[in-house]
Amino acid sequence: MKPIRKAVFPVAGLGTRFLPATKAMPKEMLPVVDRPLIQHVVDEAREAGIEHFIFVTGRNKGVIEDHFDRQFELEMTLLERQKHTILDYLNQDLPVPGSTSFTRQQEPLGLGHAVWCARELIGREPFALLLPDVLVQHPRGCLAQMMDAAHDVAEQVNIVAVEEVPAERVDQYGVVGVGEHKGKMFAITSMVEKPPRDRAPSNLILTGRYILQPEILDLLSIQGRGTGGEIQLTDAMIQLARKQPFYGLEFDGRSFDCGSKIGFLAANVSYALDREDIAPGFIAEIKKILAERTGG
Ligand code: G1P
Repeated sequence: MKPIRKAVFPVAGLGTRFLPATKAMPKEMLPVVDRPLIQHVVDEAREAGIEHFIFVTGRNKGVIEDHFDRQFELEMTLLERQKHTILDYLNQDLPVPGSTSFTRQQEPLGLGHAVWCARELIGREPFALLLPDVLVQHPRGCLAQMMDAAHDVAEQVNIVAVEEVPAERVDQYGVVGVGEHKGKMFAITSMVEKPPRDRAPSNLILTGRYILQPEILDLLSIQGRGTGGEIQLTDAMIQLARKQPFYGLEFDGRSFDCGSKIGFLAANVSYALDREDIAPGFIAEIKKILAERTGG
């Protein structure tokens, strides 16, 4: 399989579920502990060997571009104050010059449309797609696990990360039908975007991590509107699955749907508990709060 060098991050969403926090700030900049959501997802892509980071932005998303740039005033102040550790930390996060691209989705026409907006930057090579609403916590990142799985098959494949959810939640996601197993993966037999519960082919949902062949872009260019009146990536993917190998991978790790308030808060708790510098103090505070509230 051709190496996957590029990753697309759709970051044009309005973030209405987090108003008023997202009135003047992109939802992708909401922090999980002390790193913005988008930084966590870029970290995951970088760990998987991605070299070029393509952001599909919208209006009022300028600070995402600033986040991946130098901040000279801040750096000078930190230098003057001899804060070398934090400076090194910031420098580690800085993408290599020329390794980021930004393009705009001018209208909110759906995920499929957002990916299509990046077509010139993607070119004719396989690419990764990561939705910054979803975080996956595991020592080996979700995209890296997908890359490992891709290496095990010779052909040009498409792979989507999937996970089980309780049957009553399937209508909130893209849902896949399960075919024959191939190693850790299984063939995708169907794919439906936000189906009614009684029409879902399984309770395995699309988690928001994809490895796709460039032919998806041709399909997206002629894709009509689907669920919610939006151009759905899921609809183009099922067409691609009729022409090319298309697999689901049940990844290892815990996912957090940070597009929902509960998922976002749970991610903060879980990521904080993973941090040696924070966990002991944080656990003590949580215990105190719970004891005060429950009278325990
Ligand atoms: C998108 C995809 C859906 C996927 C979900 C994962 O939906 O369209 O297939 O299951 O992300 O979070 P959205 O959450 O943007 O409505």
